[in-house]
Amino acid sequence: MIGQGMIGKGMTRQGMNRAPAQPEYRRPWGLACWFDGGKLVVDSFVRGSAFRCPPRFVPLLAGAGDPVGEARLLARFAELGSPDPRRHLNTLLASGGLLTVGSPDDDRDRELARTWDWGIRTALYHFSTRNVGWATGQQEAVFLSGRTAAKPAPAAWRTNAGLSAVAACPPRRHRPGPLFETIERRRSRRNFSGAQISLHSLGQCLYGGLGITGFAELPYRPRTPFKNTPSAGGRNPFEAFVLVNAVDGLSPGVHHYSSSEHSLELRQPAPPGLRISALMGEQEWLDRAAAIVFLVAEFQRTMGASGGTGAFGTVYIEAGHIAQNIMLVATDLGLAGVQTNAFLHDQVEALLTVTAPTQAVLYAIALGEPSDDYDSISGDPISAEKKAVNDA
Ligand SMILES: Cc1cc2nc3c(=O)[nH]c(=O)nc-3n(C[C@H](O)[C@H](O)[C@H](O)COP(=O)(O)O)c2cc1C
Repeated sequence: MIGQGMIGKGMTRQGMNRAPAQPEYRRPWGLACWFDGGKLVVDSFVRGSAFRCPPRFVPLLAGAGDPVGEARLLARFAELGSPDPRRHLNTLLASGGLLTVGSPDDDRDRELARTWDWGIRTALYHFSTRNVGWATGQQEAVFLSGRTAAKPAPAAWRTNAGLSAVAACPPRRHRPGPLFETIERRRSRRNFSGAQISLHSLGQCLYGGLGITGFAELPYRPRTPFKNTPSAGGRNPFEAFVLVNAVDGLSPGVHHYSSSEHSLELRQPAPPGLRISALMGEQEWLDRAAAIVFLVAEFQRTMGASGGTGAFGTVYIEAGHIAQNIMLVATDLGLAGVQTNAFLHDQVEALLTVTAPTQAVLYAIALGEPSDDYDSISGDPISAEKKAVNDA
């Protein structure tokens, strides 16, 4: 990896308050390198683009930790044997190997270098798994049929059958009592009707997932909230932003849930003509959901408690705890619900007004009234004939 620690905390920003006489460029905080068939590939992972980099230009990138003027950079390309320095400069700019000083990308990168305390390895994972393309159901079916033919999938569970030293612990299936009943009834259901749900139901789901139930004063930490879900170090890095489509008493738009006051604040009205499935892998059932709860990580809360890279994974794990509680409350209330991480992060974050590089939307839970007109598993409309058979 190039660049770790070379631009970072305390770095002075040359040219910040003056317009440079000529454009200046610098390499981003982090670039990752690997070899592809003997060719050097450099990945500007924060930008999400990789490029083949002639090894002779590596010294140029290494020397561009601080801003370099355009004339100097073009001369440097020529010194390193480039027959067309302008073309090479443009290629590096287009692929994120160099940033223009003063551009929005430059500002965001400096903010990231200043605030991302977990180092380049976790940043590489986090940023390179954002904004990836998502297959439609049909594309996935084609892929899976080819894949299964070429390489049979491993079994999705392990059995103890035939092994020694096995102790039976049979569940009392469908045992009476609300907890197990709810756990066993939970299913990912995509048959949203489009009808309104009540503010009370939405509030219950949010409370179950993120509600604060108490506080603790712990040494060397800010006041620590205890919630309905566990959180590593009690840092509770998640906020919920809810895209409301049809909730009684709320305007359509993006609302922020306060987990201490149990209230929803309208952040911004829904943009006209918004088709949310276009940002979420064309999952059409999401357009009929009454509300989509987006779990937004504020990584800095957990970074504040632990600089160790192991803490990074706890944030992703906690999203699962929260989503499961939301799903269980939704099940208890008779709502349909499904969770997804298939979305275009940049576009969803712009919609939610989430802007800092250490904030990220990681997971979403769609909620709504269930309908017999749609298949609960596939979310597809049920034909009149099939419905008649089902009803018979
Ligand atoms: C991390 C994660 C991501 C998921 N992503 C999607 C998704 O993008 N779209 C969807 O319809 N379901 C999604 N699901 C739901 C799964 O398809 C579902 O859990 C699985 O088919 C098992 O069904 P069940 O939830 O009813 O037990 C996701 C589940 C998890 C845990």
